[in-house]
Order: sequence, then C-alpha cells, then structure tokens
Amino acid sequence: MAKVFTLTEVAEHKTRNDCWVVLFGRVYNVTNFLDEHPGGDEVLLAATGKDATAEFDDIGHSHDAWAMLDKFYLGDLHSEAVPAKTNVTTALPKGTRFKYMTYLIKFLVPLIILNVAIAFYSKSSV
Ligand code: HEM
Repeated sequence: MAKVFTLTEVAEHKTRNDCWVVLFGRVYNVTNFLDEHPGGDEVLLAATGKDATAEFDDIGHSHDAWAMLDKFYLGDLHSEAVPAKTNVTTALPKGTRFKYMTYLIKFLVPLIILNVAIAFYSKSSV
C-alpha cells in the first residue's frame, strides 16, 4: 500500500538536499532531479509545501515529463489535503434560467398579439 503523507509532513522537505513536491495528490521526491530539471531548481523549490498541480499543469509539461513522474513517486497526499473535485455542470444556474424565460416571454407575447391583430384586421378587411 502507498505511504500517505500530510501536507505538513511534505512541507518539511523543502531544501536543496531534501525536496518534495505534491502533484495531483501524489508526493514526489525531486531532490535528485533539482539540477536536471529543464525549468530550473528554483521553481521546484518554490513549489514545495503546497499542491503545485496548477503550476505543473500551466507549463503544459510534455508527455516525457509526465512519464518521469513515476521515478520520483514517494506516496500519496492525505485525502483531506487534496482539493475536492469540482462538479462541472452544464445546466444554467436557477437565476439565469429565470432570466431567459423572462426574455422569451417578453419577446413572444408581443409577437402573439401582433399575430392576432394581423389575423383580425385581414379578416375584417375582406
Ligand atoms: C517531478 C516533477 C516535474 C518533472 C518530472 C518536470 C519535468 C520537466 C521537463 C522534462 C521539462 C522540459 C519541457 C517538457 O518536456 O515539458 C520541464 C520544464 C519546465 N518545468 Fe518542470 N517538471 C516537474 C515539476 C515542475 C513544477 C512543479 C514546476 C513549476 C512549479 C515546473 C516548471 C517548469 C518550467 C517553468 C519549465 C520550463 C518550460 C519552458 O522552458 O518552456 N516543473 N519540466
């Protein structure tokens, strides 16, 4: 079973001789990679003590970079510290739905009245 670390534990490893980073809820020991990292050691050292997933993602790391992660894998971050997945919903919020209905009614009602009026006048003019 994978070892589980808290963010506090991970944050204790933030030096050039002992550097851990958290990505995607997993803990990586990047100490031996600091000098080899094409993005430099500074960014890795600055990424310690927190979940650096967003930063890692923003760079748009290549497939090769992703494949390297396994080499440094140490364990998992305690689930309490992993940000919960956000539920993406395509449905409109309630308020917005109401707003659209109002627009629709505002547009449809005059159209119906106009239709009735045209029908009435064209009938009476015959
Ligand atoms: C174990 C974790 C990491 C690995 C294995 C890794 C690996 C790599 C590799 C292989 C590259 C070369 C470009 C590519 O192939 O994508 C790269 C570039 C880079 N990485 Fe990482 N990286 C890691 C973590 C991070 C983190 C946490 C950050 C930011 C906080 C970061 C920032 C950068 C930057 C700024 C570049 C340079 C991009 C460029 O010059 O276009 N990396 N990394």
